[in-house]
Amino acid sequence: MTELTETGIAGLDEILNGGLVSNSTTLVSGNPGAGKSILGLQYIYNGVERFDEDGLFLSFEENERDLREAAESIGFDNWQDHVEAGNIEIYDKQVLLRENDFSSSLELLLGDLNDDRYERLVLDSLAMFQLFFDSEREKRTYLLKFTDILAENDLTTLMTNEQGAVFPDTDVGLENFLTDGNIFLLQTPTDSGVNRYAWVAKMRKQDIDTDIFPMEIRKGEGIRIHENASAFSMMNDEESPL
Ligand SMILES: Nc1ncnc2c1ncn2[C@@H]1O[C@H](COP(=O)(O)OP(=O)(O)OP(=O)(O)O)[C@@H](O)[C@H]1O
Ligand SMILES: [Mg+2]
Repeated sequence: MTELTETGIAGLDEILNGGLVSNSTTLVSGNPGAGKSILGLQYIYNGVERFDEDGLFLSFEENERDLREAAESIGFDNWQDHVEAGNIEIYDKQVLLRENDFSSSLELLLGDLNDDRYERLVLDSLAMFQLFFDSEREKRTYLLKFTDILAENDLTTLMTNEQGAVFPDTDVGLENFLTDGNIFLLQTPTDSGVNRYAWVAKMRKQDIDTDIFPMEIRKGEGIRIHENASAFSMMNDEESPL
């Protein structure tokens, strides 16, 4: 049987038929503000709070303090305690960008990856990670190498990516094929704010529900995905909400 890693995110594990496939890498794609970073924070936080699994959070976009503030604003009150206890290990942009190429940063990381303490990893975001490389080819080679290292070290990984949902005529980045799973977060503006949706487009080895589900970001809880997909069918809308 496939071993699974529960995200602990309400609604998401049900759509995933139990959770993420353990030791796999899943891409979390979406436009700015779609909730990618919050999903990553919540995955790592739940790991420590509820599943006794420690996590690494790699952020190319924010420093440790930004992450703490984001986590606390959403209600992950014990975030800093877990960081101080070492259950959440952060490589923030200051650390990651200190080295001038990613292989040096990777060296730094390998020690932590090897020590078996961590079971979850978030890389936020792939777009920034890719800036380290001069060519597409180098970038893809590195991404493959990196996902291999993560799997070898038994890490179940989420990587965020700034990319809108894939509809006809949209280019699909190769990273979508190089990763085991694919989750899209979508948002569409309304008079009163924004409607949010989550779509699990792919999860290798898992029988997933590929409908698009409504989603909320709530203070005190973070992301919650609702199961009444049909009421929110957006594929038939005349106007694309993206
Ligand atoms: N404390 C909060 N309570 C409710 N909603 C929040 C809270 N904090 C953030 N949000 C919502 O979540 C959205 C941002 O989510 P997040 O930072 O995860 O987006 P993102 O997809 O990572 O964006 P980017 O691509 O810019 O990094 C905000 O636009 C806001 O609507
Ligand atoms: Mg973000």
